[in-house]
Amino acid sequence: MEVTGEIGEIREAVSLARQRGCRIGCVPTMGALHSGHLSLIEECRKRVDYVLVTIFVNPTQFGEGEDLSNYPRPLEADLAACEKSGVDAVYAPEIASLYPPGFETWVEVDEMSKILEGECRPVHFRGVTTIVAKLFNIVQPVVACFGAKDYQQQALIRQMVRDLNMPVDVVVCPTIREADGLALSSRNQYLSPEQRQTALCLSQALELANEALQGGEKDIAAVEKQMLKHLNSFDDVQPDYAVIRDPDSLKELQEPQPEMVALISTFVGQTRLIDNRRISLR
Ligand code: PAF
Repeated sequence: MEVTGEIGEIREAVSLARQRGCRIGCVPTMGALHSGHLSLIEECRKRVDYVLVTIFVNPTQFGEGEDLSNYPRPLEADLAACEKSGVDAVYAPEIASLYPPGFETWVEVDEMSKILEGECRPVHFRGVTTIVAKLFNIVQPVVACFGAKDYQQQALIRQMVRDLNMPVDVVVCPTIREADGLALSSRNQYLSPEQRQTALCLSQALELANEALQGGEKDIAAVEKQMLKHLNSFDDVQPDYAVIRDPDSLKELQEPQPEMVALISTFVGQTRLIDNRRISLR
């Protein structure tokens, strides 16, 4: 497995693989790899001959007071997990090589990056789309895999790829959950055992929304209220939002439609967690 933080070296490795006839796939990550990331690697492997994982805790997607400095960085364990999963190359650059002095070009999806997560975390999506565009430019993959757990992120990346005619197939892979329903996240490790239990309120609230809409509830606002009521019934929980939206545009809905997505973001203690669930009435 090739491991480098140098742009020149990773380009060389990818170019040699391409010359051998390999299709290049990329799994962008911020490290702290868990089974969710491994499922992305596995899915990518099914579609290409050469799987490249990027590990980079991207500073531009963290706002002031967020967990950039505490974000877990277990590089040795991550490399071992990649090796074990049959990854061909890991690109793990330093901040200065991707954001050198004088850096001032940003990629931003206009409207969708300002709602929901974007409203709560104003610089977040500009940082995400910029780094993903840069990684695509460096690696030039034909396939890139992202998790459905970061629902708005994958929707924005698909929009960016469409709008900027990037020649990459964005594959969105299902959220991996613990047996009790908690969506896997690198941030789960911040939770105390009690908070870990409380955090089940996210998947429970999503289930309530699903049941209500499947059961014929026509009032979207009432379903959103029901989710919030459930979240607010826990002491240590402070929701940012719990909403039902159009699954592509993430715009508000006046009434149920055949395909929807329920999205939640909430603090459990000091840890901000997100989760979502597609709801189909077809
Ligand atoms: O989902 C993540 O881990 C990050 O937001 C990503 C896509 C790797 C960009 O830094």
